Amino acid sequence: QKLQINLEQIEKNGYDHFMLKEIYEQPSAIVDTYRGRMLVDQGLIRMAGVDDNLTKFLNAKRIIIVACGTSWHAGLVAEYIFEDFARIPVEVEYASEFRYRNPVINQDDIVIAISQSGETADTMAAIKLAKEKGAFVFGVCNVVGSSISRETHAGAYTHAGPEIGVASTKAFTTQITVLSLIALKLAKEKGSISNSDFHLYLRELDLIPSKIEEALKSNEHITGVASEYKDASNFLYLGRGFNFPVALEGALKLKEISYIHAEGYPAAEMKHGPIALIDEMMPVVVIATRKGHYEKVISNIQEIKSRNGKIIGIVTEGDQEVRELADYVIEVPETVEAFTPLLTTIPLQLLSYHIALMLGKNVDQPRNLAKSVTVE
Ligand code: G6P
Repeated sequence: QKLQINLEQIEKNGYDHFMLKEIYEQPSAIVDTYRGRMLVDQGLIRMAGVDDNLTKFLNAKRIIIVACGTSWHAGLVAEYIFEDFARIPVEVEYASEFRYRNPVINQDDIVIAISQSGETADTMAAIKLAKEKGAFVFGVCNVVGSSISRETHAGAYTHAGPEIGVASTKAFTTQITVLSLIALKLAKEKGSISNSDFHLYLRELDLIPSKIEEALKSNEHITGVASEYKDASNFLYLGRGFNFPVALEGALKLKEISYIHAEGYPAAEMKHGPIALIDEMMPVVVIATRKGHYEKVISNIQEIKSRNGKIIGIVTEGDQEVRELADYVIEVPETVEAFTPLLTTIPLQLLSYHIALMLGKNVDQPRNLAKSVTVE
């Protein structure tokens, strides 16, 4: 028993919980994801699983992404990135819905299955169905040699290292990294982005780990925000564009470990329902980075404010406009719009971590949840 506890402490590497350790590992995990694949100076992306199947990727009429949970959110971010960079239509499906609804799958569709564990039963079943219908199936998994990585035709590992906390953190950001690399590679091959933009994106991606280090420095400040709102019974998370899926993921993180009800919404949809819930008891986390519909998000913030909602803004460093309206702001460094999810996610992970901790919840092993769901 004693030995077991000591081993766990060693594994936590000085952190109180695996989740916190894994949040802080994201800069190095992302470097591990792109190391050897992204050659910034040469302006090259090399990924065996994509290189070996390049014609299939380039001829794909459509990409269908299947996944569950946090991996599904990474798929949603990837939808925005693939369509923007590579101009390939993308659909993102819950594996559990896809497998049971007689989906239309064609031979020239590529199915990308995303799974941290590589063992999720619904995702596995979706892959088998897609293969039966003749699609080419590509896996994005973290666990090397996992069932999904063996069942797919080809794939790319995230190389995030073991993720122990049930609430997924570094798996999410490394999944987005792998999918960004694929999208950029295809964009370059297809000529759908200019050479100079391609180089710019590589350089920006290369800077993301140090920008995450920067974002992590808000930890103390976020602890203060957490203590202010930890007793709320509901939270709303809003984002637009690339950051709409981040809003969903932020809400999921809070639900999973603090058991506070939270909903993620595209900011502009607020007026079609959630706005009715807003009063002085409702904290609203708004992702309002300068790139990406900034002015529109500001007007959403004004709508919340005029109904006395509490506003926590996730903003770009140096932002003034949101600061004047919000109750709290949490800053992240500036980057190109497509990569903002890699930064805006960080404060949301920390916020849910601290709230759960203050409420005395079991952060690493929340009730009723499992790290990998191998049954339906
Ligand atoms: C479970 C985990 C989540 C995870 C989801 C999908 O619900 O608790 O953290 O996102 O499964 O898992 P996968 O291993 O397929 O990414």
